[in-house]
Amino acid sequence: MSKVSIKDMDLKNKKVIVRVDFNVPLDEKNRITDDARIREALPTIKYILDKGAKKVILMSHLGRPQGKVVESMRLWPVAKRLEELLKIEVEKLNDCKGEEVKRAIEKTDKRVILLENLRFYKEEEEGNENFAKELASLAEVYVNDAFGTAHRAHASTTIIAKFLPSCIGFLMEKEIKFLSQALSPQRPYVILLGGAKVSDKIGVVNNLIDKADKIIIGGAMAYTFLKSKGIPTGKSKVEEDKLSLAKEIISAALRKNVKIVLPIDHIVVDGIDKPQTKIVVEDIPWEKIAVDIGPKTVNLFKQELKEAKTILWNGPVGIFENPNYAEGTKEIAKFLGELKGAITIVGGGDSASAAKEFGVVDKLSHVSTGGGASLEFLEGKELPGIAVIPEER
Ligand code: 3PG
Repeated sequence: MSKVSIKDMDLKNKKVIVRVDFNVPLDEKNRITDDARIREALPTIKYILDKGAKKVILMSHLGRPQGKVVESMRLWPVAKRLEELLKIEVEKLNDCKGEEVKRAIEKTDKRVILLENLRFYKEEEEGNENFAKELASLAEVYVNDAFGTAHRAHASTTIIAKFLPSCIGFLMEKEIKFLSQALSPQRPYVILLGGAKVSDKIGVVNNLIDKADKIIIGGAMAYTFLKSKGIPTGKSKVEEDKLSLAKEIISAALRKNVKIVLPIDHIVVDGIDKPQTKIVVEDIPWEKIAVDIGPKTVNLFKQELKEAKTILWNGPVGIFENPNYAEGTKEIAKFLGELKGAITIVGGGDSASAAKEFGVVDKLSHVSTGGGASLEFLEGKELPGIAVIPEER
């Protein structure tokens, strides 16, 4: 069964309130460094305007202001970028609830309104009913298009749905469609995991191990796996308390006939801040730190990926934020972009940033806008922001 979609709603002459996730990264000068979450919300906003809605009232959080007004977390940079992308003026308000906000919505002749950061009120994260009611009182229809925040049971993501006819937007629909394909994949199904911690990915492994044909492991977490097999890892980052967990995963994979693929060579350095000492090794010397996969591993991973019908990629295979150690992640990202005949799904967070950095976003089937949300979805959890929307009849 699918959720009630925005396409099922009568929007004509209505005020429509949309929860979006405009929690975008900002640099020290408050400039947006990645506007993907704003761009991905545009189809829903434009659709509502095209269907003759009276107003589109957008609401989001930005950062974690913890229930207080934090000047640097106001949504001005978002409003500006949204205007540029929509090519129409946006009425940015200085609050998200109350009589003044209501008056401003009535008064403005602009059709797109952006409320101020919802998390300036602690009631948002508390899931407070009265706060949700106040947000609901601004409109006649509620759309949840904030996939990135769908794992939070907050006032604007879940509780508000009690008070208005509710549906999901196009971004939410797209995320559910593709991430569901990672849960019910066409096989062969290959999962490529990376990033720092085994503990971050254990829920995904447990949920998907029965469906996968291979699990490829790179990034710092690979060194916990290698060490658990008794392979020397030098001074590489290892989660000592997860060695037995890594062993258990390897045994479970063996029992279930799932191939685990680990790096066979490595880029190592004397210290993360000493890239001039970078060399390629197969056996990691005791004094070295691994920072990326080596060229043989890049080829091995490509071989293991090339026959897949579905690929889920979650986590970089090296410290790609540092251009000196980005080669492995770049090679793999580009290879995924070139693959024909495979559904390529990228979890949000670091792997999404890597896909953007290496210019392959448009060549992949789907790059999620949700970090924590996509992980929880892939762990098989029901996300409150999706659960609250009624099923289509
Ligand atoms: C995210 O960036 O993952 C979402 O916007 C949720 O933000 P949060 O982790 O602060 O709830």
